[in-house]
Amino acid sequence: MTRRILVTSALPYANGPIHIGHLVEYIQTDIWVRFQKLRGNRCVYVCADDTHGTAIMIRARKEGRSEEALIAAMSQSHQADFAGFGIEFDHYGSTHSEENRELCGQFWKSLRDNDLIAERDIQQLYDPEAETFLADRFVRGTCPKCGRTDQPGDNCVCGHTYSPTELIDPKSTLSGATPELREARHLFVELDKLHDFLAGWIDSSGALQSETANYLKGHFLANSLRDWDISRPGPYFGFEIPDSPGNYWYVWFDAPIGYIASTKQWCDAQGETLEDWWKSDDCEIHHFIGKDITYFHTLFWPGMLKTAGFNLPTKVRIHGFLTVTGEKMSKSTGTMISAETYLKHSQPSYLRYFYATKLTPRVEDIDLGIDEFTDKVNSDLVGKVVNLASRVGKFASATGLSASYPEDGGLFATAAAAGDEIAAAYESCDYSRAMRRIMELADAANPFVEHAKPWEMKKDAARQDELRDVCTVALNLFRQLAIYLAPVLPDLADRCGELLGEKITSWDQSKTPITGTAVAKFQRMMDRVQPEDLKKMIDESKELSAEETKQDALPSFNDSDQPLKDEPLSDEITIDDFAKVDLRVARVVNAEHVPEANKLLKLTLSLGGEERRQVFAGIKAAYEPEALIGRLVVMVANLKPRKMRFGLSEGMVTASGPGGAEVFILGVDEGAQPGQRVH
Ligand code: 2FM
Ligand code: ZN
Repeated sequence: MTRRILVTSALPYANGPIHIGHLVEYIQTDIWVRFQKLRGNRCVYVCADDTHGTAIMIRARKEGRSEEALIAAMSQSHQADFAGFGIEFDHYGSTHSEENRELCGQFWKSLRDNDLIAERDIQQLYDPEAETFLADRFVRGTCPKCGRTDQPGDNCVCGHTYSPTELIDPKSTLSGATPELREARHLFVELDKLHDFLAGWIDSSGALQSETANYLKGHFLANSLRDWDISRPGPYFGFEIPDSPGNYWYVWFDAPIGYIASTKQWCDAQGETLEDWWKSDDCEIHHFIGKDITYFHTLFWPGMLKTAGFNLPTKVRIHGFLTVTGEKMSKSTGTMISAETYLKHSQPSYLRYFYATKLTPRVEDIDLGIDEFTDKVNSDLVGKVVNLASRVGKFASATGLSASYPEDGGLFATAAAAGDEIAAAYESCDYSRAMRRIMELADAANPFVEHAKPWEMKKDAARQDELRDVCTVALNLFRQLAIYLAPVLPDLADRCGELLGEKITSWDQSKTPITGTAVAKFQRMMDRVQPEDLKKMIDESKELSAEETKQDALPSFNDSDQPLKDEPLSDEITIDDFAKVDLRVARVVNAEHVPEANKLLKLTLSLGGEERRQVFAGIKAAYEPEALIGRLVVMVANLKPRKMRFGLSEGMVTASGPGGAEVFILGVDEGAQPGQRVH
């Protein structure tokens, strides 16, 4: 029977790029979805950017652009990263959509109607300069217990925990201002009123791994569930609560509702009905998430769904974190590798396969060891799977496939019979087991070619029929592997399809060999991992993080009240030193945002005639790009070009001011000519 299945991955925050840690989940989900589609099930994979909250609001302010412009750029970059790794969504939306606002309203009404909302005034720190209430992480100060300075708002390195109001000399990290204590009305969901329902669901639905169910029972359900503060006073980037003007739904309220809003957009585009996917007994809902957001997806979210009359998840599939060579990913060691950097140096298939070999149905962290990664890809994929095709591929285009499937000692039949077991492993997210079984089949297939020695047959005109039979067996065994691996390695499946003239679209193709057809010219299918490429990837990640730190160290808008006279003069230089700096008049012929950069604009400068320079300048908070186009500026024209993450920077534009929004580009009167020296 064809199943109808809706699948989601956690919605990535719109305030940073996708890295290899995030990719564990998106690859895990994409494999599962591709597997379901290959099995002939109706499976729809939706996701969206998670766009609301203080972090986005503050970042947009700092970068001098609207929140909408920021989230649009982020969404584009996230989607490009996902596409680069072959992650195929049926729909990718945004939590900042009208569909989501409308659905949030529906959920809200149900919560009110069911008497689950309480209102209370709470005291919270407020930043009078940034004009916003402060989450704990935006406050730092001196620990009230041990006196250490510059400690976060909720706990100190000494182990003491406190509320941010207890900090001595607290400062807002947004503006540096001293926060004030202000009272504000907040709205709460009284989750404990759903205690019995949630306990019953966790016990009997089968939606959760047993370790998760036990954790929830031990940690949360044993006591009453705390009220959940789901509103934030403005200013806040999000949706205003219709019956509580000036208050906004907290980002975690509208984020999961974004799963439904994204499905709604998909339904509208496809002529489908939302009820068939979220309110029907015939539809399964599978959420893939990381262990850090378990509480939201297994307590709040089911509570909200139940109250609003939507289906509860069939399964919440929770994975662990990624470590790299046994350590937490870190920017300074270069192991926090962005999707973009990875793709510059390596193949997406390698990571897809490697993660597949590591993923199990359990909530375990997985480790990416660089040597293990290289070994697995090179010995399994290149050495066993692709090798099977490449050893006969070039002969097979001349022979074609035999008219009937030759005797192979039972290899094809054994591999066909293994299909159910491999499918069961995929179904339960035990990809590690599936990969092991597939490699066992590859291990059994390779000796067939080794013993037959087709390269010797090739030389003997009398043995061409035999050669054709060997090619037929080897390529059919390869095809079975490519079908079983298709959820993990869709590109390999496509190449196999091209070679044998039949696209891989169904799991059941593994049961019947192809015979009597032509074989296309053999094309190289996969290269070995080169350890030097991985080294380059890590080195580049290290450099990028150092660059980011430097960018972040530049004065930002919050330092703008620093008196300039306090800036010490640099060491004295001679006139000869100064003469080395070649200052020229240049015209800004283009200026644009660099979506991924916090502070940079990309400028194209004309030095007269054809000469153009690309310069990245840290002036985003101070200037709209359009305002710069056409202006004459002074540039350092002989500065050694510097490779930055976003491209080459070939010079520097002169400016004054403390930084952030207060940067003033040094201009030149109209009448000066681009290219002229500045004296
Ligand atoms: O943890 C996160 O990155 C969140 N942006 C996940 C949201 S998932 C869902 F609830 F929308
Ligand atoms: Zn302390």
